[in-house]
Amino acid sequence: MHSLKLNTGHEIPVLGMGCWMGKKTDTQDNPETYEMVKKALKVGYRHLDTAYGYGNEQAVGKAVRDSEIPREEIFVTTKLTNEHHGCVEKGFQESLKALGIGYIDLYLMHWPQANDEKTGETIPYGQSPTFVETWKNMEKLLDTGKVKSIGVSNFSIKNLEVLLKEAKIVPAANQVEAHPYLPEASLSEFCKSKGIVMTAYSPLGQPHGANMSPVLTDPLVKRLAEKYSKPAGTVLLSWLIQRGNWTAVPKTATESRMKDNLAIFELDKEDFEALSKVHQEEGKLLHLCDYGQGDIAKTRKIFGWSLEDMGWDHLD
Ligand SMILES: NC(=O)c1ccc[n+]([C@@H]2O[C@H](COP(=O)([O-])OP(=O)(O)OC[C@H]3O[C@@H](n4cnc5c(N)ncnc54)[C@H](OP(=O)(O)O)[C@@H]3O)[C@@H](O)[C@H]2O)c1
Repeated sequence: MHSLKLNTGHEIPVLGMGCWMGKKTDTQDNPETYEMVKKALKVGYRHLDTAYGYGNEQAVGKAVRDSEIPREEIFVTTKLTNEHHGCVEKGFQESLKALGIGYIDLYLMHWPQANDEKTGETIPYGQSPTFVETWKNMEKLLDTGKVKSIGVSNFSIKNLEVLLKEAKIVPAANQVEAHPYLPEASLSEFCKSKGIVMTAYSPLGQPHGANMSPVLTDPLVKRLAEKYSKPAGTVLLSWLIQRGNWTAVPKTATESRMKDNLAIFELDKEDFEALSKVHQEEGKLLHLCDYGQGDIAKTRKIFGWSLEDMGWDHLD
């Protein structure tokens, strides 16, 4: 599997295993996560994506340790939760301890929103701790030597512009939802121009069991799957990686899908371009990730901020 070079000089494998188990796990040593990560490492994954908020950093870390693969061959991302924007060092130390793997490869600000640590209430846009203040405290973490790169997640061009005006360190990565129904083309170009690598989350449109996501069952995706004799998921992931500045972290606990999702290939130019335009068809420009917030296109809100605050009001 090939890698992209981050602006810190560290390499990030283009495909990683997503470790969000569909809900926050009941225990830190969640057995499903442990088995999934162990299997993923055996199958060949060398990039894992977890978060404090997933509740399973301990299980991810144990699977890494038990794999007997040298630590430096595995790239581990975890994320600062919204409740820890006001206590970045503490949040970081908790993740570091739960993982128990010596250091973190990439530490992301999970969301630009800060929540009050005690009440969990979202702090309104622009009020302290702002994401700029949080970022400044994340920059200090690099001095600990326990994190190789820092980055952001769910950041739009609007909020990156605010951040970059005051940042000493340019984020190494920005992790956002992306697939052909939400290509984030402008954001991708913007980040590329700043040297920020993109990571796609929910790259398969977050299918649930027998409920395939609309992007997995899109007629064009199905046609391409037939043409190349590849599963639809592999077509979606191949398209994402072929964009050049993208990595992706599909989640699957199923061994055969783990292998399918790694087996990316090159699409012919016209197929790549057709897939890059499919979102222009009526009703196909969509967030497919379920944030447990109802239909955000209707409520116009996500975790307490308006889509305008988020810079999510201009999808492309
Ligand atoms: N930064 C953020 O705010 C954020 C938000 C959401 C997600 N994430 C990260 O992104 C990762 C992936 O996103 P996600 O879990 O939301 O969605 P996803 O990867 O698009 O979809 C996961 C679902 O797809 C199924 N699946 C996997 N491969 C498949 C294939 N080849 N064909 C058909 N179905 C397949 C899995 O089922 P089985 O497991 O049953 O095989 C699982 O139910 C997360 O695990 C997490 O690490 C980050």
